Amino acid sequence: MNLKDQVAIVTGGSRGIGLGIAEALSREGVHVVVVATQQAKCDEVAASLATQYGTQSIGLACDVSSSVSVQAMVKAVVEKFGHVDILINNAGITRDNLVLRMSDDEWQQVVNVNLNSVFNCTKAVLRPMLKQKKGRIVNISSVVGVMGNPGQANYAASKAGIIGFSKSIAKEIGAKGITCNVVAPGFIDTDMIATLPAEYIDNIIALVPQRRLGSVEDVSGVVLFLSSDMSAYVTGQVIGVDGGMHM
Ligand SMILES: NC(=O)c1ccc[n+]([C@@H]2O[C@H](COP(=O)([O-])OP(=O)(O)OC[C@H]3O[C@@H](n4cnc5c(N)ncnc54)[C@H](OP(=O)(O)O)[C@@H]3O)[C@@H](O)[C@H]2O)c1
Repeated sequence: MNLKDQVAIVTGGSRGIGLGIAEALSREGVHVVVVATQQAKCDEVAASLATQYGTQSIGLACDVSSSVSVQAMVKAVVEKFGHVDILINNAGITRDNLVLRMSDDEWQQVVNVNLNSVFNCTKAVLRPMLKQKKGRIVNISSVVGVMGNPGQANYAASKAGIIGFSKSIAKEIGAKGITCNVVAPGFIDTDMIATLPAEYIDNIIALVPQRRLGSVEDVSGVVLFLSSDMSAYVTGQVIGVDGGMHM
């Protein structure tokens, strides 16, 4: 796969899908920068990756919804490693509510963390990637961004926004050796869906041709492909990882 000694920033790399992606990249010899909100947790995950896979993984706490915080994080990465090859925009939150009951805060928090973060992180890595004339950007959207979902208008809007942004970026920097693709997971077994009622999950599973939730590994395999040389001629694409829920 030829990813050895590349440097990847994985936002939301402390747990769930992001941790799975960080592990999959580390297994290929990538030095992963684990980004989440708590420094201690980032350090713990990075140290475990470094020990397990013999990489120089580091943890950097950063609120990805803040452009100032993101610029400082990317600056620290470039200062330490001299390059940044892969960006995985994975950090995300939900604040579910019906639109009639949704507060301004619930709307803004979700758009800030899920969508503004993608602009912040992508903009910050573009300069180093343009200099290197190579880069891989993978943005984690959701099946909900493609299909919509009652109670998740804020989340769906943020995830649909990621798709339009990614296609535009793919067109802006396609000739510069940088690809930008989207992975749209279905319902994946992580903390994010842990609080949903069992009956809700059963109803979702009934809509999935494969009749199961997705696993973190289902998603990380596709992200690994899009991070590698194997996907050199793939850009601006939205790859569903949803057991066939949307087709
Ligand atoms: N699980 C699903 O069913 C599913 C389906 C489709 C798409 N997705 C998407 O996949 C991505 C990962 O989901 P998940 O299920 O793995 O979620 P998760 O288990 O809840 O983990 C979310 C991650 O995002 C980080 N994060 C949240 N706010 C942040 C901020 N302001 N700055 C930096 N990091 C922040 C969290 O860090 P802390 O630990 O510091 O909070 C955590 O590492 C999200 O974008 C989600 O929307 C998930």
